[in-house]
Amino acid sequence: MTGQRDRWAELTGGQAGEEYARRFARLAASGHDVHGEASFCAALLTPASRVLDAGCGTGRIAIRLAELGHHCTGVDVDSSMLAVARREAPAQDWLLGDLARLDDLGLEPGFDLVLAAGNVIPLLAPGTGATVVGQLAAALRPGGLLVTGMGLDAAHLPLDEAPLTIAEFDQWCAGAGLTPRERWATWSGDPYHDGGGYAVSVHTRPAG
Ligand SMILES: C[S@@+](CC[C@H](N)C(=O)[O-])C[C@H]1O[C@@H](n2cnc3c(N)ncnc32)[C@H](O)[C@@H]1O
Repeated sequence: MTGQRDRWAELTGGQAGEEYARRFARLAASGHDVHGEASFCAALLTPASRVLDAGCGTGRIAIRLAELGHHCTGVDVDSSMLAVARREAPAQDWLLGDLARLDDLGLEPGFDLVLAAGNVIPLLAPGTGATVVGQLAAALRPGGLLVTGMGLDAAHLPLDEAPLTIAEFDQWCAGAGLTPRERWATWSGDPYHDGGGYAVSVHTRPAG
């Protein structure tokens, strides 16, 4: 671990797993599409791709992607969240670890897609964003995709204010050797516009 507490842990005390899972169960029961992130990623993938769900939480996205035929590894630093993932999908790979030290986990690199959904990036520990993006980029194969979804204002975050701008995030990606490919306002592909408060971004690790 980096020694610094991530913002998610500051908010939840590391005890939010069951309540987080109940929240999504309620949304699904009331008819909401809770698979937007997985559907978005699946549309970018060829069959049986390797996916790293970075900050996988309760595993809700990696479980859906596995149902769609992909090989998913989930990493999260919150054991209460991972406990839900392990219970719901015991046969899948779930690793307790800090994304700022992803290389410590000994993962086989060459993932086709690395996902950081559900505000993982803004909820990292302060000062670790560029390091984490570098670690996520290093896990990709040449030509692989980094997919992120993040709030950019208080209305789209569980925080009083956004800890980063989209320009800062793009700088971290450029510093990690990633190229911007597409950006949307939602997981269902609404057009992105500055000031909209949310960004779904796809960056690629150049091939060759
Ligand atoms: C709001 S939850 C989103 C979980 C999941 N991606 C989803 O969309 O349901 C944010 C997650 O990021 C994780 N996280 C934050 N900083 C992390 C870090 N440095 N390493 C690993 N996971 C981290 C938290 O533990 C938490 O599970």
